[in-house]
Amino acid sequence: MDKIRIRGGKPLNGTIRIGGAKNAALPLMAACLLSDEPLVLSNVPHLADITTMANLLGQHGTQVSLEGHDAKEGHTGRVMSLTARDITSTTAPYDLVRRMRASVLVLGPLVAREGVATVSLPGGCAIGTRPVDIHLSGLEALGAEIEVESGYIRASAPQGLRGARYAFPKVSVGATENLLLAACLADGQTILENAAREPEITDLAECLIAMGAKITGVGSDTLVIEGVSKMHGAQHEIMPDRIEAGTFAMAVAIAGGEVLLEGARLSHIDAAMDQLRRTGTVVEGREGGIFVSRTGSEILAVDVETDPYPGFPTDLQAQFLALMTVANGASVVTETIFENRFMHVPELHRMGANITLQGRSALVRGVERLEGAPVMASDLRASASLVMAGLVAEGETEVRRIYHLDRGYERLEEKLQLVGADVERVEDTE
Ligand code: EPZ
Repeated sequence: MDKIRIRGGKPLNGTIRIGGAKNAALPLMAACLLSDEPLVLSNVPHLADITTMANLLGQHGTQVSLEGHDAKEGHTGRVMSLTARDITSTTAPYDLVRRMRASVLVLGPLVAREGVATVSLPGGCAIGTRPVDIHLSGLEALGAEIEVESGYIRASAPQGLRGARYAFPKVSVGATENLLLAACLADGQTILENAAREPEITDLAECLIAMGAKITGVGSDTLVIEGVSKMHGAQHEIMPDRIEAGTFAMAVAIAGGEVLLEGARLSHIDAAMDQLRRTGTVVEGREGGIFVSRTGSEILAVDVETDPYPGFPTDLQAQFLALMTVANGASVVTETIFENRFMHVPELHRMGANITLQGRSALVRGVERLEGAPVMASDLRASASLVMAGLVAEGETEVRRIYHLDRGYERLEEKLQLVGADVERVEDTE
């Protein structure tokens, strides 16, 4: 296993190329199950979660091929071709699903195309209990019969799914994606109300439309889908990773410097970038990406509260909290999406941060300096926040268990090295 070693105190200067979005790529890959023709995705990031999804789709009978992984410029921008000509198995086994919750996204397309799907229940994870009840009640509304037995969800609709009106009881990214995928092949019209509006859902809807789906209301909280009897192949470029972009923007804010986040789109993370500006960081949308700069100015304390899109994303909460640990003043960071997404707090304490947890809020009193320490990553975004804290801490920080990081950040340490950070990946022998 590897760890990341950071020696703090270096500003970041230059250009960071933002890769394709993991959270857009995963549902897009699942979309291949809706058609027997090839779905060709470009700008595919090189990440452990993408490999897990490819393995899962492979076990349903999908032919997966990948080009561009030896490209000189690194792993970014690979092209993946997915052809689910025949579905050879409608079961998603525990061994694959337990590795990645997004595996549950095969449920909707499988039951829509094959009339049956058996998918392991994902189980809990470090950031919360994360149930899938909304995915299941939505599929029931489309006429699927759902049974949960021995840790597996079995969905069946032998006569096919039928369109219906369904209002999500709570905004859910994954449930919106599962239902959108399923409704494409349902008989008649489906209206999804209180749908999530994240840019990743818009990306999925655009790809589904290219595959022959009839969807209106894209980008709004009401999606209307006229079912079609057959979908076809398509080519689609995966959107840039807005969470990767936001993470690097906050890294520049904490370490200081001037960086162009090449390929990133400001409109995808407006809320987070507005809050970052209020900390005294310059953030500008440029033609080629987002320009971020903090030179000399102190970091101002700013309160944030996470919310579904277009609010401040929960996937940037840990990184913003890390920035607030060295702000001039006190701030309150409130997490409203997941009940246990503060696992980074005890690790940041080990680096000298002053944070008090009160229920779903963290009161962060800025300190003058953080000190390098060995710390442990608990989930993907928490890991990124610890690397960020290491960029500004005095001395050496070692972040362990970075397999979490590799699930969602492509070559994070290489990208930081390229803009001047003193960071390396080393083997963890302990
Ligand atoms: C997606 O997870 C993202 N994952 C998460 O990214 C992200 O944090 C989250 O959306 C919120 O933005 C992918 O896109 C692969 P939800 P998802 O369903 O779809 C509750 C990262 O770091 N809920 O929108 O699982 C749930 O427990 C991550 O990249 C139910 O109660 O999130 C949570 O409190 C991790 N029942 C809330 O809704 C359900 O059936 C929102 O979750 C479904 C969800």
